[in-house]
Amino acid sequence: MRTVSGIQPTGNLHLGNYLGAIKNWVKLQEQSECFFFLADLHAITVHNDPATLSANCREMVAALVAAGVDPQKSVLFNQARVPQHAELAWLLICNTPMGWLDRMTQFKEKSGKHKQRSSLGLYGYPVLQAADVLIYQATHVPVGEDQKQHLELARDIATKFNSDTGEEVFTLPEPFIEGPAARVMSLRDGAAKMSKSDPSDLSRINMTDNDEMIAKKIKKARTDPEPLPDNLDDLDGRPEARNLVGIYAALSDISAEEVLAEYAGQGFGDFKPALADLAVAKLSPIRIRFDELRQDKDAIDAILRDGAERAKARAQPTVDATYKALGLLRD
Ligand code: TRP
Repeated sequence: MRTVSGIQPTGNLHLGNYLGAIKNWVKLQEQSECFFFLADLHAITVHNDPATLSANCREMVAALVAAGVDPQKSVLFNQARVPQHAELAWLLICNTPMGWLDRMTQFKEKSGKHKQRSSLGLYGYPVLQAADVLIYQATHVPVGEDQKQHLELARDIATKFNSDTGEEVFTLPEPFIEGPAARVMSLRDGAAKMSKSDPSDLSRINMTDNDEMIAKKIKKARTDPEPLPDNLDDLDGRPEARNLVGIYAALSDISAEEVLAEYAGQGFGDFKPALADLAVAKLSPIRIRFDELRQDKDAIDAILRDGAERAKARAQPTVDATYKALGLLRD
């Protein structure tokens, strides 16, 4: 089992980023050989301020390591330091029909009404993503539901390349969809995803929030007056209650059913303080490490440099085999 996954280097990290992807990665590195990277080459498919991009990359690495991604165990790096990703992407672009890219829903959403003004990179984004996973012969790719289509495309690209060239250059990767608790919603509106761009800071728990802020935000979270039910079906139509139960379950590594088994019949007057204690206990050690590491630019750069060296060594044989299968002459 070889796991590969990437994350876009966004700033202002919050509980949604932690429970959505980061925590999952920490678990996977116990079971599998893992390659985790910052998708900085994907980030530039839309406009990015250069100074913000590099700051966000470093901040994301600090958060990953603080949360438990172990740069010794996993290969942790940023794409830009491993040029083989961009190189393989070109080789694959030449063998990918435009019709396949026209079907990608994320491109349609991101380009909206401005297709003509979108970059060619945004259109080709899924091919770079395919290169990211195929280059390490990934078997497992943990992603959110929204990335499933890109993963299926990666499989199609691999299949077509292998059959067109008659060489088994690429392994077909399996998507590995994160559990239901992965989707953390706003604390103010159970229908909206927790987001760094929500104008209300009370809507999210930031990775930098101190214990008092965490407790206060949970206390002020929107809920309803009903007690918690004893089964999940009865949370239908109660998105805010569902979200808090989901957060509790994800933080304590148990199922939502198990949370309900413990709190059925209790109102939010009891449940919220329990959730606040749990969140503080789990998040405060991460915040302390995060605060330390994000100040230490040299340590972060050393982690990424070391990861990139290891990644390059693993990526090169696939790139070589790809050139060779295409009949390209090189030394
Ligand atoms: N497109 C992914 C996302 O938004 C990030 C990503 C880039 C990725 N390359 C990848 C995820 C390869 C999994 C595997 O979130």
